[in-house]
Amino acid sequence: MSARRGFCTWCFGFTFLLGLTALFLWLSLRPQNPSYDLIDFYSPALNISSSSSNTTRNTTVLFELKISNPNKDSGIHYDAINVSLYYREEKIGESNMQGFYQGHGKTAKKSVVIAAADGPFWEAASLDVLNRTAVFGVDLVTGLRFKVVWANTGHKGVKVAGHVPVGVDGKMVAGKKKRIKLK
Ligand SMILES: *[C@@H]1O[C@H](CO)[C@@H](O)[C@H](O)[C@H]1NC(C)=O
Ligand SMILES: *[C@@H]1O[C@H](CO)[C@@H](O)[C@H](O)[C@H]1NC(C)=O
Ligand SMILES: *[C@@H]1O[C@H](CO)[C@@H](O)[C@H](O)[C@H]1NC(C)=O
Ligand SMILES: *[C@@H]1O[C@H](CO)[C@@H](O)[C@H](O)[C@H]1NC(C)=O
Ligand SMILES: *[C@@H]1O[C@H](CO)[C@@H](O)[C@H](O)[C@H]1NC(C)=O
Repeated sequence: MSARRGFCTWCFGFTFLLGLTALFLWLSLRPQNPSYDLIDFYSPALNISSSSSNTTRNTTVLFELKISNPNKDSGIHYDAINVSLYYREEKIGESNMQGFYQGHGKTAKKSVVIAAADGPFWEAASLDVLNRTAVFGVDLVTGLRFKVVWANTGHKGVKVAGHVPVGVDGKMVAGKKKRIKLK
């Protein structure tokens, strides 16, 4: 009788431990989403000190995209990444990047150069910078799979976006952190 009770206690304890281990494994291996930050955004056309009336407008827009994988245990396979640029809700350009694999805990920096369209919105934008209301929209679309230990998770669509205020030097106004998080 007491032997059987002893066995049951052991059995219960064992099951409990197994459950706890599974829960812990699941919590520690469950991958977190990467973060996407914009840094060094620059629009030469809006740089007041370089734009002059008799030169052609440089509609190129440049920035760095910083993608960070916060997971200690999982890598990330990214599909091709599409970045779109907007001014006042109007799409003015885009850039397509190849997919890549990112190891655990790694940060990737990608230089993005967008040959934006020319159009009347630039006139508006160069007035907007004067009263600090020039704001670009950026969105990023991709898909990813996490590589957890040996297996890949299912495919997951990603869409993040952010607003980039630009000042009279054509550079983004991003405060102390000097980056804008796409969410
Ligand atoms: C703006 O243009 C001026 C004159 O061309 C240049 O010296 C300056 O570096 C430019 N600003 C930025 C942020 O590149
Ligand atoms: C504007 O054009 C005039 C005449 O072609 C030229 O002399 C002047 O240097 C130009 N200004 C700038 C800033 O390019
Ligand atoms: C536009 O500006 C970028 C950055 O300053 C420069 O790399 C590029 O050569 C310029 N393009 C033209 C056509 O002037
Ligand atoms: C990214 O852009 C390319 C080319 O415009 C397009 O074929 C592809 O479907 C886009 N991908 C996504 C996820 O929107
Ligand atoms: C800033 O200037 C633009 C163009 O002149 C104008 O359309 C806009 O209403 C102004 N915004 C503010 C907040 O003053």
